[in-house]
Amino acid sequence: MRIILTGGAGYIGSHTAAVLVERGHEVIILDNFVNAERDVPARLKSLTGREITIIEADIRSTEAVTAALQAHRVDAVIHFAALKAVGESEADPLLYYDINIIGTIRLLQSMQAAGIGRIVFSSSATVYGQPDSSPILENAPTRVENIYGRTKLVMEDLIRDLARVGKLKAAANLRYFNPVGAHPSALIGETPRGVPNNLMPYVTQVATGERPYLNVFGKDYPTRDGTGERDYIHVMDLAVAHAMALEHICGNDVSVTVNLGTGHGTTVLELVKAFETVTGKTIPVSIAPRRAGDVASYYADPALAQRLFGWKATLNLEDMCRDSWRWQAKRAGINDV
Ligand SMILES: NC(=O)c1ccc[n+]([C@@H]2O[C@H](COP(=O)([O-])OP(=O)(O)OC[C@H]3O[C@@H](n4cnc5c(N)ncnc54)[C@H](O)[C@@H]3O)[C@@H](O)[C@H]2O)c1
Repeated sequence: MRIILTGGAGYIGSHTAAVLVERGHEVIILDNFVNAERDVPARLKSLTGREITIIEADIRSTEAVTAALQAHRVDAVIHFAALKAVGESEADPLLYYDINIIGTIRLLQSMQAAGIGRIVFSSSATVYGQPDSSPILENAPTRVENIYGRTKLVMEDLIRDLARVGKLKAAANLRYFNPVGAHPSALIGETPRGVPNNLMPYVTQVATGERPYLNVFGKDYPTRDGTGERDYIHVMDLAVAHAMALEHICGNDVSVTVNLGTGHGTTVLELVKAFETVTGKTIPVSIAPRRAGDVASYYADPALAQRLFGWKATLNLEDMCRDSWRWQAKRAGINDV
């Protein structure tokens, strides 16, 4: 298939691009590079051996996006482009409504104008808010707890509505749990701007010496060691899941909402320990009070993805730590990996 990836130069999009090319699909990336490095296309080329068409455009510019979709006669869209920082969404709600919600509406309008009716969408486990229990099934109640989460749920609803009334032929809302890791080549990975919001990039920056220690927020949660428990998933597993979900919905013209996680929870201290073991680095930690809004524990029930399109995570915590470190160490000019 020929696929346009909005936000395809970003973290998850670039890994998905590499996997799609490997599986024989043709990939076109549409990105405005607001949160992507300019040399990602070149790095993808050296990784895949293929020239990937890049369209520099904002998803909100209907004219440019419609023209791109028409010119390339694409079969489907994978929609990654969004802003994703919870704190920033609370500080500037209108920016998030504009880029995430209006941007998605504009994209759907462009798809309709170009006659493209198949989409895979990057949603998030954040739509579950504080879950009643884990593992979390797709039919668990959705509870929006911040503006970023609200935008994800609205985007999902827009897509589900259009599928329900027949304006989309096929759609997948993919609810990611906690993506980490990098391509094993260390040619692409995650490059957070400023202080990382997520645990793994923070840990890797402590390991390179860019940050002195890791703050662990809360050691009195009802978990194995008192620290928060999450379902970390390797970005390569996530990338493969996009390809399999895409092939499934396009092959069957169906619409699905699916969790993408491993089904296993890992606490903060377990992740730190695994990272230390894999890399031989020491990560000093400092215990800090709980952060408002943090959930003690959540992890996916990923059985539906396996049942629908045969996907299951295959990479473990050691793989996640090794590949995250290889990527960060290379960027920091450290040659011990
Ligand atoms: N990384 C995570 O932990 C996580 C978890 C759950 C869901 N998600 C969702 O997955 C998607 C991809 O996340 P990511 O981690 O790869 O983020 P990312 O920031 O690395 O990638 C997003 C890409 O979209 C581009 N973009 C942003 N606004 C745009 C616009 N208006 N027009 C065109 N391009 C635009 C950015 O330049 C970037 O390349 C996002 O929708 C995010 O909300 C991410």
